[in-house]
Amino acid sequence: MNHARAFALLLVFSLVSPLHLSAAETIWLDQLDLSTVRQGTGAPQVNRSARGTPLRIAGQSFARGVGTHSNSNYRLLLAGGCERFLATIGLDDCAEGPGAVVFSLLADGKKIYDSGPLKNGDAPRTIDVDLRGVQLLLLSVLHGPGARTAFNHGDWAEARFIVTGAKPVPFVAPPHGPAEILTPKPGPEPHLNGPRVYGARPGHPFLFRIPTQGARPIEFSAEGLPPSLHLDAAAGIISGTTPDRGDYTVTLHAGNGHGRDSRILKIVAGDTLALTPSMGWNDWYAHTDRVTDAMMRAAADLMISSGLADVGYDYVNIDDCWSNAPTHRDPQRVGPARDAAGNILPNRRFPDMKALTDYIHARGLKAGIYSSPGELTCAKFASSWGHEAQDAAQFAAWGFDFLKYDWCSYRLKVGSPPSLDEMQRPYRLMGPLLRQQNRDILFNLCQYGIGDVWKWGADVDGHSWRTGGDLGYELDRLFSVALKNASLRDYQKPGSWNDPDYLQIGFMGPNKPGEKGKPFALNPTEQYAFMSLWSLMAAPLFYSGDLTALDEFTLNVLCNREVIAIDQDPLGECARVVKVDEECFLMVKLLEDGSHAVGLCNGSEIPQRLAARWTELGFAGAQLVRDVWRQKDLGPFATEFAAEVPRHGVVLIRVQAQK
Ligand code: GAL
Repeated sequence: MNHARAFALLLVFSLVSPLHLSAAETIWLDQLDLSTVRQGTGAPQVNRSARGTPLRIAGQSFARGVGTHSNSNYRLLLAGGCERFLATIGLDDCAEGPGAVVFSLLADGKKIYDSGPLKNGDAPRTIDVDLRGVQLLLLSVLHGPGARTAFNHGDWAEARFIVTGAKPVPFVAPPHGPAEILTPKPGPEPHLNGPRVYGARPGHPFLFRIPTQGARPIEFSAEGLPPSLHLDAAAGIISGTTPDRGDYTVTLHAGNGHGRDSRILKIVAGDTLALTPSMGWNDWYAHTDRVTDAMMRAAADLMISSGLADVGYDYVNIDDCWSNAPTHRDPQRVGPARDAAGNILPNRRFPDMKALTDYIHARGLKAGIYSSPGELTCAKFASSWGHEAQDAAQFAAWGFDFLKYDWCSYRLKVGSPPSLDEMQRPYRLMGPLLRQQNRDILFNLCQYGIGDVWKWGADVDGHSWRTGGDLGYELDRLFSVALKNASLRDYQKPGSWNDPDYLQIGFMGPNKPGEKGKPFALNPTEQYAFMSLWSLMAAPLFYSGDLTALDEFTLNVLCNREVIAIDQDPLGECARVVKVDEECFLMVKLLEDGSHAVGLCNGSEIPQRLAARWTELGFAGAQLVRDVWRQKDLGPFATEFAAEVPRHGVVLIRVQAQK
């Protein structure tokens, strides 16, 4: 164990538990304070299964133990006081369908026990694990493969610690630090940002707002712009018709009373869109089923006034709840799904979709819409089943530039579990329909990663696909979600991206009109980590918080142009992971200029000193290191860069060989 870790533990330990040096004693898991257990649904049950029935595994009953539900995590501070952990584990007989759970023990970042999948009817397994010297223990019951997670009721039966020193106590994370603003404010002089390469289809409408920081008014100009495109010199918006197939190297210039900036933008007229991960805002976590036309217009305005658009966020996307529902608490959202001709109808909160996209486009931004291949969306609003071609044409006619297509009730149209063909079918249908429209429409596959969508998402014309469930319910697993997404790095490339879900920092929307929104669950360190991990992975960057509640800290996390440049790098590489232990790792991403972005990532519960050693990462000689969040050069480092990384933190650096 390194010094920082030992010190941190000593500190926590000295605060919570006096030393005991008695003879061996048995302490039962069910006697401990279980209020800090985090689990998928419900709360842990003492001497009962997760569903409140007596503990029973494959017909064998147990008088005591703890019933829980995956994913369940319980962190305990042992401080070296425990000898052994004994238990009998398995899936409780109360599971009425196919469940599978994996029990594991992590000791100071190292896996010391893994049960492998345990399913219905598997005999109870007795375990006896050596805990000598362990400081921090994590007891987990995780989703096993191929099961319905609703049935994952795992039991720690007869679970007990043999204790010779300090007694185990629940680990409570130390309070987090203040919301420190790390990035210097951009100056008044112009600074051109945004992608360096941009794909568009020949003959289609072209729209690109040049992301630029600096005091307005700014005067824009461009050299090498094809004649079919026009630059609005005051607004910095390029529009017109995408020229014939080919690469067009355009030099953009921006000037104001404080200075000038220039930058190359390569426009690639061809088949491939989304040459860099798309960026924007999606309303789901801000407005859910309260979203209105007025909120979407306000969002477009806020993206400009807040500066989000000046660093590249440019899609303004409506999520669920814009169509009619058969029933809803808001009568303005209730109505027929379609008109007599079969055209899908927006609800009365969206009086004129074309006028809405015109409003968004007039600001140089793009507009997104949402549907499901089923009869109803996830929130039970009308969607595209049986009307796919009509809806694709309608979305294009309304002027949308992005479709999120959410599996939802389509599961009722297929077998359980669905075959691969059934999983692909709705996307195979809609992808080419979008491609046939006379405008560029990005296609986002939202089906939570089923059927290894990363293996075929690009073949069904997808530009991005969610690699997992809603992060909204998994925010405490930020690092493991990132690790899973990064393990799929070989499946993404410019034009088609793994999507680990939205950026959920700052504030989510209020539950009722007139109320104030709540902050998302992540502390400031975790919010920086979120943005660092997503950028290292070249993930689509869609903010989904409440734009009306943006504060200086949230904007600081969202708008660091050097962090975004790592995400938007033209190579489109997702960082590779170099494991330090089960909870700490490095992320290393090659960038187009030959430099690397490196993240020192600490997913553990205590501060850790982590080192990026050049030889281990394949870098030759001394390296110049830049602190990306602080936008500050740290100088040359001969063999490694090491830093103290806070709990759930990422230190993000850019590393370049010294000449
Ligand atoms: C979920 C989807 C979310 C959001 C929601 C709307 O299935 O993953 O991102 O779109 O539906 O009901």
